[in-house]
Amino acid sequence: MGINRKIQTLDEFTIQQMRDFPNATGELSGLLRDIGLAAKRVHVEVNKAGLVDILGDAGTMNVQGEEVKKLDVFANNQFMGVLQHGISCAGIGSEELDDIVVFDDEISAQSKYVCLFDPLDGSSNIDVNVSIGTIFSVFRRVSELGKVATKEDFLQQGINQVAAGYIIYGSSTMLVYATRRGVNGFTLDQSIGEFTLSHPDIKCPETGKIYSINHGNFFQCEEKVQKYVTACQNKTKATGGPYTQRYIGSMVADVHRNLIKGGIFMYPGTLEKPKGKLRLLYECNPFAFIVEVAGGKATNGKERILEIQPTEIHQRTPFFVGSKLMMEEFEKTN
Ligand code: AHG
Repeated sequence: MGINRKIQTLDEFTIQQMRDFPNATGELSGLLRDIGLAAKRVHVEVNKAGLVDILGDAGTMNVQGEEVKKLDVFANNQFMGVLQHGISCAGIGSEELDDIVVFDDEISAQSKYVCLFDPLDGSSNIDVNVSIGTIFSVFRRVSELGKVATKEDFLQQGINQVAAGYIIYGSSTMLVYATRRGVNGFTLDQSIGEFTLSHPDIKCPETGKIYSINHGNFFQCEEKVQKYVTACQNKTKATGGPYTQRYIGSMVADVHRNLIKGGIFMYPGTLEKPKGKLRLLYECNPFAFIVEVAGGKATNGKERILEIQPTEIHQRTPFFVGSKLMMEEFEKTN
């Protein structure tokens, strides 16, 4: 039987990338492997969510005051577990946890990286079988190796991310991650239990026809957003349209689609929530990094997301991300 040499697993890919850097220690590859392992475990649970007793609320609230679903708890434990037991991560920050957790064993203290993640984004969609996802962000520590990680390691500008990615549990499960060198997507091949390279060198189309926003918030948004959304609705063939509105309410799925097909995703501030809903460190920074590496843009409506200096772990920000030309048109709207 012939061997399909075109198939490359996530591990093979990250190791091959590492070979280009003679001083690389393999820690980042190890970290991505750990994340891939947790993702596979979450994939299994997500796929049987309707069969076993993991739907519904876990009965607690997360630190954001939102209901925690049982799968959220499971996913959080899986990602935290693999990162704590691996040898590449000195500490984590999670949407589900009040504060950062630094690992104080000898091996973790020597680790170069810290990781922030939203274990299960879009969790209000779990019960209705809509795609959900995990988002992660990796920083090189600024604190001294050999000692435990500090808050400063986590409160870095997004521009300093070494890698960022997401897993989408959709019609298939995919892991997409970016380093400064590019964005690559891996689809879980269930027959061998491996993420395999399916979307090499992803580029975000310069423009597109999709705009994604919660229209229910329209009258709560600032005038600039209202004007841009109205302009999207008024697009004709002559002006690059017509546009199509697509909004699932699972950012991973919404931004993934727009990354592949071209489009703009917006979660602006509203009268009720001037800083919007999304978290800078777990949601916006990673997606801003991925989309920028792929050729797109990401802002809070005024400044580049990746240049915002975070002051707290659970900070929120308005978020606009997508194809370069659509973002520029939004920026010019006044
Ligand atoms: P949650 O994890 O609580 O379901 O939040 C999902 C996030 C994000 O993924 C999505 O784009 C946005 O919240 C949807 O919020 P709205 O329902 O307010 O539009």
